[in-house]
Amino acid sequence: MTHEIAVIPGDGIGQEVTPAAVEVLESLDLDLTFVEGEAGDAVKEERGEALPDETRELAAEADATLFGAAGETAADVILPLRDVVGSFANVRPARAYPALDAVQPDTDIVFIRENTEGVYSGIEAEVDDGVRTLTRVVTEDASREIAEFGFRYAKRNGFDDVTIAHKANVMRETDGLFLEVAEAVGDEFGVDYDTALMDALAMHLVMNPEDYGVVICPNLAGDMLSDLAAGLVGGLGLLPSANVGEDNALFEPVHGSAPDIAGEGVANPSAMLLSAAMLLDHLDYGDEAERVRDAVEGVLAEGPRTPDLGGDAGTDDVTAAVLDRL
Ligand code: NAI
Ligand code: MG
Repeated sequence: MTHEIAVIPGDGIGQEVTPAAVEVLESLDLDLTFVEGEAGDAVKEERGEALPDETRELAAEADATLFGAAGETAADVILPLRDVVGSFANVRPARAYPALDAVQPDTDIVFIRENTEGVYSGIEAEVDDGVRTLTRVVTEDASREIAEFGFRYAKRNGFDDVTIAHKANVMRETDGLFLEVAEAVGDEFGVDYDTALMDALAMHLVMNPEDYGVVICPNLAGDMLSDLAAGLVGGLGLLPSANVGEDNALFEPVHGSAPDIAGEGVANPSAMLLSAAMLLDHLDYGDEAERVRDAVEGVLAEGPRTPDLGGDAGTDDVTAAVLDRL
């Protein structure tokens, strides 16, 4: 069965790492077709909108989407795109590789981030001169959906530790509901889990990441804690992610368009290639996904490496080395 993949490189290093991922996917000789769409700052400048309708449709109709990064228009691109694929879960694995000099080499954590509401509900207002508000939306349905996804993910992927992040002592109504529902789901699954206040959790993640496996988070907490974990394992160049819905999904590196290095050809493609591996998993190409992960891991171990990892290789060199191993 042919799978159609929408490919949206976006801005900055998105333009550099996305072709690398397509090249790797093409090398596997699977029944995949690729259709490319435009989004981001450059398109906004040209056409007045960051996410043209035809790109939206491409993502809606494809079996999965591969997204690079957008720049200043990121929120206008990625939030609607996550919506288009109906994604309610953002899966962000942060894993240290033995060969790399990670701040915390024992890190192997998967953040399962609620992807539709919380403080990213987009409901903001200027209520008076110099006074602005934000409405934090938490629903029982979305909380249950993300908690079920998180506990199921832990079970399927052999994680013993599940932690529910929250701040219900302060946000009593909203996180109170999130916590109550997530705990109920944990009890239904009949597994042990912990709950953690998200601020204290940030500290514990830095000091003792080995104590954590799957961390189920409200939207903003998941965004921040996963970037924090990126720092523990060697930087944003390594972190892939999946935005998963009922029957569609979008895969993207956690990093942005990295304007500081864009155009230099030195972006680390690993995060993007590992996102492509997650896409393969999603399409039930588990063996190929594992092969891509092994090849990336092999190159991370033996080089070549991009400057963010202390090397002097370019994106193309790393991609070629991964292709070689495949
Ligand atoms: P960023 O992730 O683009 O960059 C942060 C730092 O990490 C930079 O020093 C960058 O050089 C480095 N970095 C990131 N990815 C790398 C890679 N693959 N290889 C080597 N180094 C890498 O985040 P920043 O600087 O906060 O945002 C830059 C732009 O990206 C902004 O316009 C922001 O809105 C956008 N952004 C877009 C996202 C998306 O499209 N999903 C996510 C985050 C930011
Ligand atoms: Mg972020």
